[in-house]
Amino acid sequence: MSHSTNISTTSVAAVDLFCGAGGLTHGLERAGISVRAGVDLDPACRYPYEENNKADFWEKSVVDVTADEIRAAWGKAKYRVLAGCAPCQPFSTYMQGKVDSSDARWNLLDEFARLVRDCDPHIVTMENVPRLEEQDVFEKFKASLRASGFEEVTTRVVNCAEYGIPQKRRRLVLLASKFGKLELLPPKSTKQKTVMDVIGDLPRLVAGQIDPKDILHQSCSLSPTNMDRIKNSKPGGSWRDWSEDLRTNCHKKESGKNYASVYGRMRWEEPSPTITTQFFGFGNGRFGHPEQDRALSFREGAILQSFPKDYKFVRKGAVLNKTAIGRLIGNAVPVKLGEVIGKSILGHLQQIQSS
Ligand SMILES: C[S@@+](CC[C@H](N)C(=O)[O-])C[C@H]1O[C@@H](n2cnc3c(N)ncnc32)[C@H](O)[C@@H]1O
Repeated sequence: MSHSTNISTTSVAAVDLFCGAGGLTHGLERAGISVRAGVDLDPACRYPYEENNKADFWEKSVVDVTADEIRAAWGKAKYRVLAGCAPCQPFSTYMQGKVDSSDARWNLLDEFARLVRDCDPHIVTMENVPRLEEQDVFEKFKASLRASGFEEVTTRVVNCAEYGIPQKRRRLVLLASKFGKLELLPPKSTKQKTVMDVIGDLPRLVAGQIDPKDILHQSCSLSPTNMDRIKNSKPGGSWRDWSEDLRTNCHKKESGKNYASVYGRMRWEEPSPTITTQFFGFGNGRFGHPEQDRALSFREGAILQSFPKDYKFVRKGAVLNKTAIGRLIGNAVPVKLGEVIGKSILGHLQQIQSS
């Protein structure tokens, strides 16, 4: 898909810090930005990142990335973008009340700020969970952007479903430009995409089965009890729909009342719940298939994150490492959100160029 501006595709170069399997990179590339490199210390990212994108993969910690390396990757491009999405677990709602300020991941925002200061990008963008906005580290990050010459930093909390992504996922998007105010494009008022729209046509599977044509389209096997549970689960429902004998001990306790959203089925006619790194397990959220008695397959999770249906995550003939692939998919910036970020940047640069 090409962008609607006429800036040349090589004039805007980006480096993606904390690039994962390439959700953000793929979206930026689709918008028309030339992503030169992605940095991540997780070796599992290399294959999907390089196989589906033009950018190089640097397997290292952002802590060890130098300003010279980033400048060399940008080369002679007219406009330089530094993008990134520091790990969000310390700030996610799942960690509510458990935020540990000594967590080393807090410092990764400082590392991002260091690179902004030392590399002199024209544009900076960062995606994260909305709770980051409440943290001092975020204020510090924005202050350091201002000190690096970004007079106006904009943030927007989006629900991805408003952007045609078939998933309810709230995310914070930060944008900053040396040329003036840069804002995320607003959503186009289109009908929301549903689970049915995007995975309704995938081959049927039973729990534990692998589609012979697509190793990603496999769903985890279920214990006999969990099979009973899913058979008794309704789309949009929860464990409350089950008879007493199927409930777990934690559901029976008073405190279990807070866990209404685990062990549910999705509804066909709505966007999915937030795809987490654990989405392939029936007991980990509302991740039951709307009508088949199984959890989501890895391909279904990736599609709900708006990865293209043929995005390659594992080398041909290789065994799928479920934990690693779940992590890459659940952690990704939805590709379509990345594309909106890219189009916002290109639209802004186009305006600057023509003014
Ligand atoms: C939220 S995910 C990024 C997702 C990615 N932007 C995408 O769209 O697919 C955060 C990533 O940061 C990586 N990470 C964590 N600590 C890191 C570090 N010190 N240096 C580089 N990458 C790191 C993790 O391996 C993870 O892939």
